[in-house]
Amino acid sequence: MADRRIIFATGNEGKMREIRAILADTGMEVLSMKEAGIHVDVVEDGATFEENARIKAKAIAAVCGEIVLADDSGLEIDYLNKEPGVYSARYMGEDTSYTVKNQNLLERLEGVPEEKRTARFVCAIAAAFPDGSVETVSAAMEGIIGYEAKGENGFGYDPIFYLPEYGLSTAELSMELKNEASHRGKALRKMKQVLEKRLSER
Ligand code: IMP
Repeated sequence: MADRRIIFATGNEGKMREIRAILADTGMEVLSMKEAGIHVDVVEDGATFEENARIKAKAIAAVCGEIVLADDSGLEIDYLNKEPGVYSARYMGEDTSYTVKNQNLLERLEGVPEEKRTARFVCAIAAAFPDGSVETVSAAMEGIIGYEAKGENGFGYDPIFYLPEYGLSTAELSMELKNEASHRGKALRKMKQVLEKRLSER
């Protein structure tokens, strides 16, 4: 059914797999922008993760008239006034490797004791509906910045982000465990509830 179609504004295959798995039992069909034949470049110039997700979802829904989901995520380090925050992907330049970015953050935290190394990954997801309304959810995964980069799984800042309860970096977790604990997994599950409610009201 066309009204059960959802476009997810991402080109990232990993994110597509995750959202399809989470929405699998709802009967909703989730398409990437590419699969839906939509090509829109959106400038993410919001000051918060939620704002960026809303900007992206609304801009794409305006073009296609379908339900559009968009996400924005990043790392907040308390000792660095929540840097890199909404600039997580752009920190030190888009083309700089994460080996270099992670090393830089470890250096900026040199000598900082464990209790001041608190950090979190945040994920906001916005859903823009054809009637012009937008709903957002967000979730976080709390942890600390470790003293060295460790682990081969995951991506981005995972090697320096540690979950104290596991004593492991998120790059050392299996994908299943990370999806269960992650900011994105939690936010996606919240969004699933929003969508189910909206669709049941029709
Ligand atoms: P985006 O939401 O795909 O634009 O991601 C923003 C940036 O945040 C990514 O490029 C990563 O640097 C960082 N990030 C977001 N989620 C994670 C994660 O789960 N692990 C590691 N880095 C992440």
